[in-house]
Formats: sequence, C-alpha cells, structure tokens
Amino acid sequence: MKAYFLKIASACLVSCTVFSASADRPLMPAKVLPAYQTECASCHMAYPPALLSKPAWQKIMSGLDKHYGTDASLDGPTQKQIGVWLQAQGGTYKRVETSSPEERITSTQWFEKKHRSIDKNVWLRKSIKGKAQCQACHTSADIGDFEDDRVRIPL
Ligand code: HEC
Ligand code: HEC
Repeated sequence: MKAYFLKIASACLVSCTVFSASADRPLMPAKVLPAYQTECASCHMAYPPALLSKPAWQKIMSGLDKHYGTDASLDGPTQKQIGVWLQAQGGTYKRVETSSPEERITSTQWFEKKHRSIDKNVWLRKSIKGKAQCQACHTSADIGDFEDDRVRIPL
C-alpha cells in the first residue's frame, strides 16, 4: 500500500513538475550560457538541461570525442565551463535520474510514453531526421516549450 502511494507520488513528481512546468514556465533557463548555445546547438538543438540528470550530463561532457558516433570535442576551458553550467542546471526529478539509457532524453520512459502515438516511419522523414530533432515538431522547443498545442508534425 505504501509502495503504491509512493509510486503515484513519484510519477506525479515527474509529470506534474516537468510537464506542468512547461505550461507556465518553459524548461529552458531564462539565461542560457552563451557557450552552450554556440557549441551544443550546431548539430541538434540546445536541449533543456532539466531533461537529463546531472550524472548523465557529466558522462556526456567527459566523452565528447565519442559523442553518439561523432566527434564533438571542445577545448578544455570551454568544456569545463559548459560542464559546470550543466551540473548547476541538470534535472533532479526522480525519473530523470534513473532512466536515460545511453544518456539520451529520447530513451527515457517519459519520452516513449509521450510519443507512443507517433508511427516509426514518421521519425525517419527527411523533414524530421530522428527523435533527437525536437524542434522539427515542437515549434517553440528552442525556449524549452514543449506544450502540445505548439506541436506540428511536418510532412
Ligand atoms: C558535431 C555535431 C554535434 C555537436 C557539436 C554536439 N552534438 Fe550532441 N549529438 C550529436 C549527434 C549526431 C547525436 C545523436 C542524434 C541522434 O541519435 O539522432 C547527439 C545527441 C545528443 C544528445 C542525446 C539526444 C537524445 O537522443 O536524447 C545529447 C543530450 C547531446 N547530444 C548533448 C550535446 C551537448 C551537451 C553538446 C555540447 C557540448 C553537443 N551535444 C554537441 C551531434 C553533436
Ligand atoms: C515527430 C515529431 C516530434 C519530435 C521530433 C519530438 N516530439 Fe515531443 N511530442 C510530439 C507530439 C505529437 C507530442 C504529443 C502531443 C499530444 O499529446 O498531443 C509530443 C509531446 C511531447 C511532450 C509532452 C508535452 C505535453 O504537453 O504533455 C514533451 C515534454 C516532448 N514532446 C518533448 C520532446 C523532446 C524533448 C523532443 C526531442 C528530444 C521531442 N519531444 C521530439 C512530437 C514530437
């Protein structure tokens, strides 16, 4: 019984905090570190740090030379600066902490759940280029706004 309530409470912690946060307050911090914007938004959008745990960001930042099959290395000082900022901004919600295999937002359970109605083939469209390209469908993703009334799936 106790475990059951805990489960509900922690589910709510994520959906009620992460997702309702997007309703009145976008997930992207108001002040984004300029280096994060210039260095981490050239191949994909600058992801809101709150969508991954601090340990996940730590792992990502210490393996930039082998970054999801590409080389995203930075000079030491820039890497350090971005790393420190991500540690300050990283998500602290329970589900964010525990389930992001391969340090991917797109591998988390909440991501699967929120996107389960999207057909496999949709992700492969040229206009989208994969799950990691949030801004292809979420028209205000750059400010961390993922509200469903601002979703538009391109053809
Ligand atoms: C040279 C291109 C490049 C740069 C620069 C780059 N990335 Fe990536 N990143 C990628 C690729 C490619 C993927 C995998 C995308 C996919 O699977 O569709 C990726 C994936 C990711 C993911 C996982 C997305 C998911 O699937 O949930 C995160 C998080 C991420 N990058 C963070 C960063 C951070 C932080 C920086 C800056 C330090 C950065 N990236 C810079 C190419 C880049
Ligand atoms: C193929 C288009 C597409 C891509 C790419 C995509 N999403 Fe979504 N996303 C959707 C759709 C459609 C929904 C569901 C809207 C609904 O429930 O009506 C959704 C829902 C969401 C929600 C829940 C919104 C809410 O109000 O409940 C979040 C958060 C979200 N997406 C984040 C992301 C993130 C982060 C990325 C990138 C890592 C991403 N999405 C990539 C189409 C996409």
